[in-house]
This record gives sequence, C-alpha cells and structure tokens, in this order.
Amino acid sequence: MNGFIYREKIKSFDSRRNLVIPGDLSATIDFSVEYILFAGQEAIQKNGFFTPVLSGGSTPKAILQKLVEPKNAARIDREKTFFFFGDERSVPPNHPDSNYGMAMQTALIPLHIPENRIFRMIAETDSEKNAAAYEAVLREKARDAQPDLIMLGLGEDGHTASLFPGTQALKEESRLVVVNEVPQKNTHRMTLTYPAIRRAEHVCFFVFGKSKSKIVADVLQGLYQPETYPSQKVGTEERKALWILDREAAQHLSL
Ligand code: 6PG
Repeated sequence: MNGFIYREKIKSFDSRRNLVIPGDLSATIDFSVEYILFAGQEAIQKNGFFTPVLSGGSTPKAILQKLVEPKNAARIDREKTFFFFGDERSVPPNHPDSNYGMAMQTALIPLHIPENRIFRMIAETDSEKNAAAYEAVLREKARDAQPDLIMLGLGEDGHTASLFPGTQALKEESRLVVVNEVPQKNTHRMTLTYPAIRRAEHVCFFVFGKSKSKIVADVLQGLYQPETYPSQKVGTEERKALWILDREAAQHLSL
C-alpha cells in the first residue's frame, strides 16, 4: 500500500500479522474506509478492476454506512468494482440475517452498484452445488479467486467468516468455498475457507468495541489454538493479515 496516507500508522505485530489502532471508533472507521478506497484505487490502476470481499455482521455495516457518504462514494468506480461475500447465512436475501441483504440495503443500492457487479452467495438452497458455483465465479471474476481485499470480522468466540471453532470447514485445504455445519448456531453457513483467504492480496480484520477486547487479546496474544480460535490461523509471512482495531477493542493488548 505504497502511497497510502496512513501507511506509517501500520505496525508489524508478528511474522504473520500487522496491526493498526487508529484511535476511537470514529477514527477507526475513517481509517477503514480510507484503506478500502485506497485498495480499490490501487487495484484498478494495477488490474483495471477492484474485487472486495465483504464480511457480514454489524462491524462492516458501520464501515459501509461511511462509504456511502458523498465524499467517499465519489471515489468508488461503480463499473470497475465487483463485490463478493466472505460468508453467508442459510437464509434468503430479504431475511434480516442476510449478509447480502445488509450490504445491499446499507451501501450497494444507495451507491447504485449494477447488479452484475454483485455476486451473492446462495446459501439457502442447493448449498453444496452453490458453493461450487461460487468458487467458479471467484475464479472467473476475481483473477482466478485472488480477490484484492477480504474484509473479516471477529466473533467473540474467535470465529471469522463462518469458520467457527471445531467445525469441518477448518480442515478444508483445497476447496475455496464450502458449506459448513455450525452446531453452535444450529444451522449451516456458506464460507470462504483458509485456502481462499490466503489467496487475497489484502486480508483485513476490522474489530471494533469493548465487547471484542478479551477475544482480541486471546487471539493475538494467547496460546495458538486455531481449532478454538479459527481467526488465529489467518495471515502468512508472504501476505500478512492486517488487524484494524479501535482503541476499545485493543484495550487488553500488551503492546
Ligand atoms: C457473519 C460474519 C462473522 C462476523 C463476526 C463479527 O456472517 O456473522 O461474517 O464472521 O464477521 O461474527 O460480527 P460483528 O461484526 O457483528 O461483531
């Protein structure tokens, strides 16, 4: 991210992860938006288009709401940005739990993103067939499934995407998209796998708020146990994961 205005704020945390703590929630959302917009500008300059993979849950909603503000929206190339999803619940798109539905209502509709630039994970029907189909779409539309940016969140149990503790998807080392039975939620989900996440140019965790401060410290500074804390396994020496934390989420880290 040469030329990124906040580049000097990003510090090396360990051999597989970088860390940035921009400040309070507002400053961290501003940083997150700037990072995403710069990644898009960099990708379009380099490859002619930008392929962000959106995460689900409430954290990305705050970021997407900021992206929609006119000064930020003006920096999004609607024709050259292809939106993907990192995971999806087994619900239809109009269900309140749909990650796609949240992204559409919060940003993709307000930004007038053309439908053929948005690739929904169809997790509610024929999920095995649709997982394979989604992998094919990633390969066709995202430079052989090498998306420019994967947004990840962190659950209070240490999961990320729909890679939940003790679930089968943690063992997948070849397929890029799978259906994952999640007994903790009494449901199945569709999710990118570790191999898929490793293929991205930029992998970013966005973690905000006091409620995440304990799990952040356990994941980043606790015993390495990825079966228990799946998010620990994200990040490689070749492509370090960037952890973007607000001050509250970082409060229990010993830095
Ligand atoms: C999902 C997400 C999931 C999320 C974390 C954090 O579909 O639920 O992909 O991995 O990122 O659970 O969620 P919050 O941002 O709501 O805390």
